[in-house]
Amino acid sequence: MRKVALVGAGVSKFGVRKASYRDLVWEAGKACFDSIPGVKPKDIEGLVVGSVMPERTAFQSHISSMAAEALGIRPTALSARTEHMCASGTVGIRYAYAFIAAGLADLVMVLGVEKLNQPSGDEAILNMGTGVDREWEAAFGLTAPPCFALAAQRHMAAYGTTEEQLALVGVKNHTHASKNPNAHFNKGATLDQVLGSRMIASPLRLFMCSPITDGAAAVIVASEDRARALTDTPVWIRGSGQALDGFQLTSLHEDYAHWPAMQRASASAYKAAGVGARDIDVAEVHDCFAIAELIAYEELGFCAKGEAGPFVAAGRSDYGGDVVVNPRGGLIGCGHPLGATGVAQAAEVFAQLRGEAGARQVPDAEIGLTHNNSGMGEHIVMIYGREWA
Ligand SMILES: CC(C)(COP(=O)(O)OP(=O)(O)OC[C@H]1O[C@@H](n2cnc3c(N)ncnc32)[C@H](O)[C@@H]1OP(=O)(O)O)[C@@H](O)C(=O)NCCC(=O)NCCS
Repeated sequence: MRKVALVGAGVSKFGVRKASYRDLVWEAGKACFDSIPGVKPKDIEGLVVGSVMPERTAFQSHISSMAAEALGIRPTALSARTEHMCASGTVGIRYAYAFIAAGLADLVMVLGVEKLNQPSGDEAILNMGTGVDREWEAAFGLTAPPCFALAAQRHMAAYGTTEEQLALVGVKNHTHASKNPNAHFNKGATLDQVLGSRMIASPLRLFMCSPITDGAAAVIVASEDRARALTDTPVWIRGSGQALDGFQLTSLHEDYAHWPAMQRASASAYKAAGVGARDIDVAEVHDCFAIAELIAYEELGFCAKGEAGPFVAAGRSDYGGDVVVNPRGGLIGCGHPLGATGVAQAAEVFAQLRGEAGARQVPDAEIGLTHNNSGMGEHIVMIYGREWA
């Protein structure tokens, strides 16, 4: 396999945006091209677009061709869309990585985009019911918030995790988001605010949930030769893994607080990268709800099973701790425009490993990890390095 690196990255402003779907593509695409002046649209050989439900929200399909035309890209090697619910963007990066590693292209853009608040945020919540089993779960009200609430209740019962420990994830990620001008929320949050926010699905309160967000992000992925010619500071893709336990919550999880597929996905990524959990300096994990971040600490190996509550309470996932988790604000603070999320996570790790993250910079960050889940049963992990090995 050839070595593969990120050489450029850019994100749009996240939030409830007036911008159209195409405006978001333009905003992230332009920011990405601006980050690497040596690359013009005509140089891009492939475009992969992660997007979950443009047919339902923007009444648009045929997405990668639309985005290519909008950005002036004429793909010669690859043009595709990835739809894999909340992990769509990272799946797109894996496609580009494999394609370049196999020698089929040298320069591919991966763009993630979602315009959820159209026609309204309420309708987006309804639309997101398509991501769980329509016949056996969504029809009975088992959409994402209650699914993750069941995991939280199980974690609390099994390990004594407290509502305050869940709330501390919300405090940390809203506080991180306050240093990110592109985040959905910029005001930060105190423990009292998180614990006093309205209940969504017990024990998950509003500030422990990701919101309904519009946004886009893009990265440029390059072969080793092209990366070295374009920049002195490429960010190498060191490893990647993906694993599935199941689609249905109700039939496929013996214990909602254990997500073994995340362990398997991270084991593959750590093995390929030649690193372990203790080597990770910065991690962007899929905190669609606070409990998801706690379980991620455990399944990614940052702490032992059942120890995530004390881990966050001791500040071990914050600046000055073992690993800085979600410096851009995570999905809770930054927002979760489904298809854009995984690409925005990669853009953050790209900035962090190049020392370009400004007020959010994790000191001396050398190895970064991104994690997405799609539902609770499927996980995808990428590991990036400032150096190749
Ligand atoms: C939590 C949730 C139900 C709240 O939706 P809602 O009750 O319709 O809230 P609204 O959109 O009416 O917003 C009302 C207020 O709450 C704020 N708000 C909405 N979601 C918020 C969140 N997650 N965190 C903090 N504030 C939030 C809004 O900014 C708004 O504030 P304002 O009155 O100052 O403008 C919704 O954001 C949601 O479904 N989130 C989960 C999304 C999801 O499942 N993603 C997939 C994950 S796998």
